[in-house]
Amino acid sequence: MPFTPSTTPESVRRVACVGAGVIGGGWVAHFLARGYDVTAWDPAEDAEDKLRRLVSAAWPALEQLGLADGASPDRLTVAPTLAAAVADADFVQESAPEKLELKRSLLAELDAATPPGVVIASSTSGYPMTDMQTTATAPSRLVVGHPFNPPYLIPLVEVVGGTHTDPAAVAWASRFYDLAGKSVITMDRELPGFIANRLQEALWREALHMVANGEATVEDIDASITEGPGLRWAFMGPCLTFALAGGEGGMAHMLDHFGPSLKSPWTRLEAPELDRALRDAMVDGCATAAGDRSYADLVAERDQGVINVLRATGRLPQPTPHPSHSPQPAHPTASARLPLPLRLSPIPLFRQVVQEDWIDYNGHLSEAYYVLVFGFATDALMDASGLGAGYRARTGRSLYTVEAHVRYLDEVPRGSQLAVRTTVLGVAAKKLRVLHEMYRCDPAGEPSGDPVATEELFTLHVDQRQGCAVPFPDATRDLLAAAVAPSPEWAGHGIRPVGA
Ligand SMILES: NC(=O)c1ccc[n+]([C@@H]2O[C@H](COP(=O)([O-])OP(=O)(O)OC[C@H]3O[C@@H](n4cnc5c(N)ncnc54)[C@H](O)[C@@H]3O)[C@@H](O)[C@H]2O)c1
Repeated sequence: MPFTPSTTPESVRRVACVGAGVIGGGWVAHFLARGYDVTAWDPAEDAEDKLRRLVSAAWPALEQLGLADGASPDRLTVAPTLAAAVADADFVQESAPEKLELKRSLLAELDAATPPGVVIASSTSGYPMTDMQTTATAPSRLVVGHPFNPPYLIPLVEVVGGTHTDPAAVAWASRFYDLAGKSVITMDRELPGFIANRLQEALWREALHMVANGEATVEDIDASITEGPGLRWAFMGPCLTFALAGGEGGMAHMLDHFGPSLKSPWTRLEAPELDRALRDAMVDGCATAAGDRSYADLVAERDQGVINVLRATGRLPQPTPHPSHSPQPAHPTASARLPLPLRLSPIPLFRQVVQEDWIDYNGHLSEAYYVLVFGFATDALMDASGLGAGYRARTGRSLYTVEAHVRYLDEVPRGSQLAVRTTVLGVAAKKLRVLHEMYRCDPAGEPSGDPVATEELFTLHVDQRQGCAVPFPDATRDLLAAAVAPSPEWAGHGIRPVGA
């Protein structure tokens, strides 16, 4: 029976989550944060309490990620029966225990209870849908939507149908997950373990072999990943990473150079024959993945990525303020153009990699995106001064920009790493003036050369609920006041002096 959707992925309002343990609860939190109404059902007696605890515990992280308009834990309903949970659903996510017989009968029950034309997705970690859809009456709408724990933080979902699934249902589910903020991989064939779990499993089995044979300790194995390749995998996959190991010759050189070692017993997993077709598939695949990025671009991206991961995980100290914050400016030409108050500030340097879709038809950073990057730097300043996402959500208070003066000083080519150094120019009870200076980074991730742009910003601390400016919290005002770089030199460069 072909699948005829009852609604478009764009029109989904209510999601039913059936099975509300670790994964089902994680899905509930994710869908709530994306602004959906969620109905959950789980047969366990204490399921509702556990689920609400999971959602509450996840909510601060979800706030940091950014909530959709109207998103609220209050939009969760726990249904008394499976039938009640799915009766009004526009999409169903099944996350019951990983037991084949249970999945088979549960999917058949869900199929019978869910309105026709509604896609039902299973979170299964490894069963092919073909094996699970055997007893359903309308198997064409059953798909796998395999998440990673926790589904509200890890973006990936792998989507695939079974023999009796209509490809239209797979396409519908992929589009829906995409709209719901997931990173979707749509597979065109069933593969036990899908993609990511096969890769994880290969590594896991080799780790078990090494421990079983006394070849490495558990500690060695974990350190070999967290101190080694794992640092790169968060932002660049293993294929592109290996292509860089081939230097400017890329994947072709890498395979020609290291290909023969595929015959060596480096792992218990047998390597495929590296014939011409496989070599070309790898080389072409890496070229596609690299897109317009040159070897130098990719190296710069990798280097900055590793530095970012090392910093984010506390293994590298935050950068010390650049010498240009000392009384002797390190960039005389920049300071000649605009004398600035140069003094040590505790405000951290904000870093940003230029995104591909920020590039205009001239191959450089588009005008509006300079301002976007400065906006991110202002967010970082808020985070650093106690006005972060948690404060904003709790109080409804935030910084509002009322005046900005941007100078575009130089082009920013694609692939650039940017750093924004922020100097506090002045702070009063409700007002704050800052100067952002944007630099391109050297390969070590440090700002280099003259600023490519500056933004002078006058902001007010506003209470949205009261609709007016209000005083900063004392701690924030003290912190910002301590960072102020008092100097008459900046006066007259685009920002009015701010009164007390
Ligand atoms: N845990 C992971 O890391 C992970 C990752 C990806 C996918 N998955 C998959 O997600 C699914 C759920 O795994 P989990 O880790 O959340 O397990 P879990 O044990 O934490 O949760 C399972 C929940 O299902 C409920 N349940 C039991 N019988 C049920 C039924 N007949 N109908 C509906 N619910 C029922 C249980 O009460 C429990 O709350 C499995 O298919 C698993 O393979 C798990």
